Amino acid sequence: MSPAYLGFQSEDYKICVVMVGLPARGKSLIAGKAMRYLAWVGIPAKVFNVGSYRRHATPQPAATFFDPHNEEGERMRRAAAEAAMTDMLQWFQDGKGVVAVLDATNSTKERRKWIYETCHKADIETLFVESICDDEDLIMNNILEVKTTSPDYKGQDPELAALDFRNRIRNYELVYQTIDDDEKSFTYVKLINVGSTVIINQIKDYLSSRLVYYIQNLHIKPRSIWLSRHGESEFNLSGKIGGDANISERGEAYARKLPELLRQSGVPENTKIVIWTSTLKRTIQTARHLKAETGYEKLEWKALDELDSGVCDGLTYEEIAEKYPEDFAARDEDKYNYRYRGGESYRDVVIRLEPIIMELERSENVIIVTHQAVLRCIYAYFMNVPQEQSPWMEVPLHTLIKLTPRAYGTEELRFKANIPAVSTWRGKGSSAKHQDFPAEGSEPASTAGTH
Ligand code: F6P
Repeated sequence: MSPAYLGFQSEDYKICVVMVGLPARGKSLIAGKAMRYLAWVGIPAKVFNVGSYRRHATPQPAATFFDPHNEEGERMRRAAAEAAMTDMLQWFQDGKGVVAVLDATNSTKERRKWIYETCHKADIETLFVESICDDEDLIMNNILEVKTTSPDYKGQDPELAALDFRNRIRNYELVYQTIDDDEKSFTYVKLINVGSTVIINQIKDYLSSRLVYYIQNLHIKPRSIWLSRHGESEFNLSGKIGGDANISERGEAYARKLPELLRQSGVPENTKIVIWTSTLKRTIQTARHLKAETGYEKLEWKALDELDSGVCDGLTYEEIAEKYPEDFAARDEDKYNYRYRGGESYRDVVIRLEPIIMELERSENVIIVTHQAVLRCIYAYFMNVPQEQSPWMEVPLHTLIKLTPRAYGTEELRFKANIPAVSTWRGKGSSAKHQDFPAEGSEPASTAGTH
């Protein structure tokens, strides 16, 4: 998709986001999140990780490889940077994307000048993102969590790996130059201790400012996000979509069970959770007991209301297929982009959810009680689900999903309440009425996965 279509930049706009900083400063984490965000809003982007190029020739180098006096090491690292740059230029030339992220330490002025000039010659804008961190606990955490699971140390003793990695960092410190006044003409953002201080210089265009805004909202404090659909509603029972119905008796049973289900999912002691609902009755009713029992703060967001089904609001899928057969087929054909007459598409929902995602990135623990389509979109953001797949995902009623961001990806756990409800999931081509699905077993089942 061209950036012009997205309405933010000229047709041939290209930007290279250049990560800068010592190892273990969260650069890959920031790069990965920015990628996920861009994919979610429909901007084609790719990370070019210089480390993985370097690993072709040197899969598991010791710290001495990174000693600036090691000429062979220097030569090989330069070659890896050049190979990543060549692939990135080709990728842009082939029209494959709008944003490339060059993920490496890029820790000297000389290296950054080379990147800037090479990109400039190819008409590619640059945005330098420097991550500075002097919080020893954060660095140590990063060393242990990320680097001991990195392919550079695979199969090695974690203690020795951490020690070697510390020595590697020391070698980088010998030559590291922070971005300073000599580089005032560059567009850059400096993040100090992720999220606490941000310095922004020379942001010239809309996409850079959007990216910078996103990046400056990030934090790396441990937290979880819980997602739940509302309890089964009267409309769910009759197979109607949209509306503002009350929850059914079984929906009410789920609402009563939600506080217990949340506890069972594992809430660390003294953790404050904020409850977010939509402005529709079924989510507010579902969160009622949770709010009363826990005393957690609660916010209602219009942006969390269900996808607006326009003229089809209040109809069953069968009725839609009968009344608007062409629309029904068109929706199945391209469910992500199909916009209900007088209503919304999934793409529209993603756009209105952007402020929600920004706020979620700034927040710590949040439980969101919302609707099928909205939950799919939020889930797709965290779990990196491609746009065309997200509207078809199954997100059953009476199930609590716990997402916990980790250094690489998000861990997922599902907890079923064992309270029967209809299934509102509809496969392509079907207009069948919602099916009942039974409770399974007696205890909440949980499933786990990481993306
Ligand atoms: O059926 C429940 C519901 O939340 C409807 O209100 C909404 O229109 C629908 O799900 C969204 O799901 P889909 O996009 O699969 O029709």
